[in-house]
Amino acid sequence: MSAILMDGKALSAKVRGKILEETHRLEQTGVRPGLAVILVGEDPASQVYVRNKEKACVECGFYSEKYVLPAETTQDELLGLVDELNHNERIHGILCQLPLPKQISEEAVIAAIDPKKDVDAFHPSNVGRIMIGDYDFLPCTPAGVMELLDEYGIDPKGKRCVVIGRSNIVGKPMSMLLLHRHGTVTICHSRTENLAEICREADILVAAVGRANFVTPDMVKPGAAVIDVGMNRVDGKLCGDVDPAVAEVAGYMTPVPGGVGPMTITMLMKNTLKAAQK
Ligand code: GUN
Repeated sequence: MSAILMDGKALSAKVRGKILEETHRLEQTGVRPGLAVILVGEDPASQVYVRNKEKACVECGFYSEKYVLPAETTQDELLGLVDELNHNERIHGILCQLPLPKQISEEAVIAAIDPKKDVDAFHPSNVGRIMIGDYDFLPCTPAGVMELLDEYGIDPKGKRCVVIGRSNIVGKPMSMLLLHRHGTVTICHSRTENLAEICREADILVAAVGRANFVTPDMVKPGAAVIDVGMNRVDGKLCGDVDPAVAEVAGYMTPVPGGVGPMTITMLMKNTLKAAQK
């Protein structure tokens, strides 16, 4: 058996096309969606993400501003920029690329972003709203995974869903979105005992571990949908958390690159459009 590959690149192109149409419609009312992206320091992976976000803004017809700050930037300097952007009427969404250098508290910066411009959905008030199912913005990576599942007709309702990873950015909100869609959700992490056994029960298995080829074929139920959120560099090559050999066991699988990655950025565009519409 060979898994059906879930094409995030194709779905992204389709969704970005719809966003561009909405942008044109919104422009008739004198509003052009605007996104500000802040990058502090020179982390190579972050530079690639930020470049891809700029490209996506162009594709969606958005106005965008990029702020590249030196690695020595102080927390007060960054908070000053966030405050300025909070009050900038051309900017509807603010994204501060993580991780930040160690002298800056990520929590403090996230909390300083106006929740109405928090297109990452990382602000504590937006996280709380996701918990109770009353939200404006969905976190981008989990939202991208849900759109991919929907596109391929994979309904979490009543199914065993296993998420490996408990980060604030992916693992925790991913579990919540699957739960909202009536999945039976288990969250696994580095201290989980009998991990392979639990994973083998999953109809939908989401890997967000940050370790190359961590999920092996023996951990996968035949026919399961396996979603790979990993973005690992091995010898300069991008590779996911899921061993490519899993394709022989899984029913559906997301490739890396070209699976979840492009969808994450597309969901950021969707959130920015929504912020501008409001
Ligand atoms: N770093 C890795 N992923 C993300 C993301 O989705 N948003 C932000 N702001 N930083 C990240």
